[in-house]
Amino acid sequence: MSQLSLAVDLAGLRLRNPTLNAAGVLGISSTLLRRVYEAGAGAVVTKSIGPRPRPGHPNPTVASLEGGLLNAMGLPNPGASYFAGEIRRLKEDGVPVVASFFGASVEEFVEAARVLAEAGADALELNCSCPNVEEEMGMLGADPANVERITSAVRGAVDTPVFVKLTPNVADIVEVARAAERGGADAVTAVNTLKALAVDIELRRPVLANVTGGLSGPALKPVALRCVWEIAEAVDIPVIGCGGVSDWRDAVEFLLCGASAVEIGTAVMTRGLEIFRDVSKGIRGYLGEHGFREVGEIVGLAHEG
Ligand code: DHB
Repeated sequence: MSQLSLAVDLAGLRLRNPTLNAAGVLGISSTLLRRVYEAGAGAVVTKSIGPRPRPGHPNPTVASLEGGLLNAMGLPNPGASYFAGEIRRLKEDGVPVVASFFGASVEEFVEAARVLAEAGADALELNCSCPNVEEEMGMLGADPANVERITSAVRGAVDTPVFVKLTPNVADIVEVARAAERGGADAVTAVNTLKALAVDIELRRPVLANVTGGLSGPALKPVALRCVWEIAEAVDIPVIGCGGVSDWRDAVEFLLCGASAVEIGTAVMTRGLEIFRDVSKGIRGYLGEHGFREVGEIVGLAHEG
């Protein structure tokens, strides 16, 4: 039993276990991200950071729904130069950091990536899939040619591993995953939030000021699993599962479908930071009970059945 290991290799990173927080959740400061790591995450993911500060959308920006959360924050962030200091502080404490970043053009993606890589991020997660800022970003992540172009430009500009986070708001996510792989992505994260709407019947208008938002949480899980499944059959790079992981069983489902690690977002808000230790403990129990010695042995196993 003591031989059992939860450590995983993720595109060159060695993580103590396969759990990360999802971008946007507790990722705005080094203080909060240190707590995520101390709570047991294998690595932490920052909030999405752009090349310059952005105020984000007006309130209301979040709605709590039966199956999860709907949000349209509008990518508020303090800008890459400011956030570089937060990354440096995390690295001084030895925390493995994945820096999520975005831009409104290829040049902006490259600019943000360079600053965050220079600050010491262990990996970069390219967010070309926010559902709430279409005006400026022009659905960048829905077009395979754009995804390939941005990925390739970023890949050429930094030595740090690049994960590309994909949107489920497309007809064929496999095409976009293949484009990311062609562009040189070291891994893909599947998936970002699903574009959705909530209505207030008393006010007789949409709940969110932005009208639409991104749906996360349990309602997203079957969509995310389907995406991970399809992508794992089509690419050779690792897949990071994201979307509705609320307990260790959900995490095992993602691993069996082909994810090498999982990001946890909404459940951190609904269940608290204990979720990271709970998920790791549950995966450990599952591996032991079924005679496996490490996480890698179950990655993609559902495809063989
Ligand atoms: C926002 C960004 C995202 O990538 C997402 O999935 C949901 C919301 C935002 O900042 O609005």
